[in-house]
Amino acid sequence: LSIESGAMSPSSPSPLILTQDELKKIAAYKAVEFVQSGMVLGLGTGSTAKHAVDRIADLLHQGKLKNIVGIPTSTKTHKQAVSLGIPLSDLNSHPVVDLAIDGADEVDSNLNLVKGRGGSLLREKMIESACKKFIVIVDESKLVAHVGASGAMPVEVVPFCWKFTQDRLQNLFDYAGCVAKLRTDNGGEKIFVTDNGNYIVDLFFKKDIGDLKVASDAILRLAGVVEHGMFLDMATTVIVAEVEGSLLNCG
Ligand code: 5RP
Repeated sequence: LSIESGAMSPSSPSPLILTQDELKKIAAYKAVEFVQSGMVLGLGTGSTAKHAVDRIADLLHQGKLKNIVGIPTSTKTHKQAVSLGIPLSDLNSHPVVDLAIDGADEVDSNLNLVKGRGGSLLREKMIESACKKFIVIVDESKLVAHVGASGAMPVEVVPFCWKFTQDRLQNLFDYAGCVAKLRTDNGGEKIFVTDNGNYIVDLFFKKDIGDLKVASDAILRLAGVVEHGMFLDMATTVIVAEVEGSLLNCG
C-alpha cells in the first residue's frame, strides 16, 4: 500500500527523508485502521507499539472508536494506556482478544518473529496467542532472511539457579555456536527483571539454529525456562513501513 499524505505522497518530487521513528509511526497508524468499535485489543510494547496506543486513544477521544477494551502486554504499556484514558481489562475477564497490534525485533518472510528485546515477551505471547488477528508493525530494519540469525533471542527464565538454566540453554545450541548472556539493565551490573519477576537470558547464535519449531520445543522443555521470544505461526499480518527511493510503501 502506498501512503498518501502531504509531503509523503509517492508522486512528490521532493526527496523523502523520514526518521526510523516516523516509519514506526506510519506502520502503527496503518494498523490502527483495522481497529473497530467494540473490540478487545491487545496493546503491544515498545517504541512502535507506543504510537499505536497513542493513536487508539486519539480516536477514542475523538469519538471515532467506542466501547473498546485494551489488554496491555507490559506494565509500561499499562501505564501509558491508563494515562491516556483507555479502558483496560485482562485475559481472565476477556480470554478472547479480537486484535493485537505490536512491534517485533525480527520478522522473516514466513511471518515468524523474534520478540522480547524490550523484555515483555511472556505477556506479549500470552495475549497475542489469544488473538483472532495479530498485526505486527515494523520499519524495514526489522526484516530478516532467517529469524535468530542476527541479534539476541530472548528467553525468560526463573531467577532460581539462573546460571544453571543459562548453561543448559547454551549447551542446547552448541551446534550453532550459541553464547548465552544474562540480561542486565543498560548493559550494567544490575540484573534486568521482567514484569513477572523473572530474568532474561539472551541467546546469540553464530550459525543457523535450523528448524525453528524444533528449537522452540527444545527450549520450552528445559525446566527453569518460562518462555522464549520466537513467535512462530502467530502473526496474521505484518505492516512494514519502508522507504524505497522516493516511494513510501507500507504493506
Ligand atoms: C518488547 C518487544 C517489542 O515489540 C520489540 O522489542 C520491538 O520494539 P520497538 O518497536 O521499540 O523496536 O518485543 O518485548
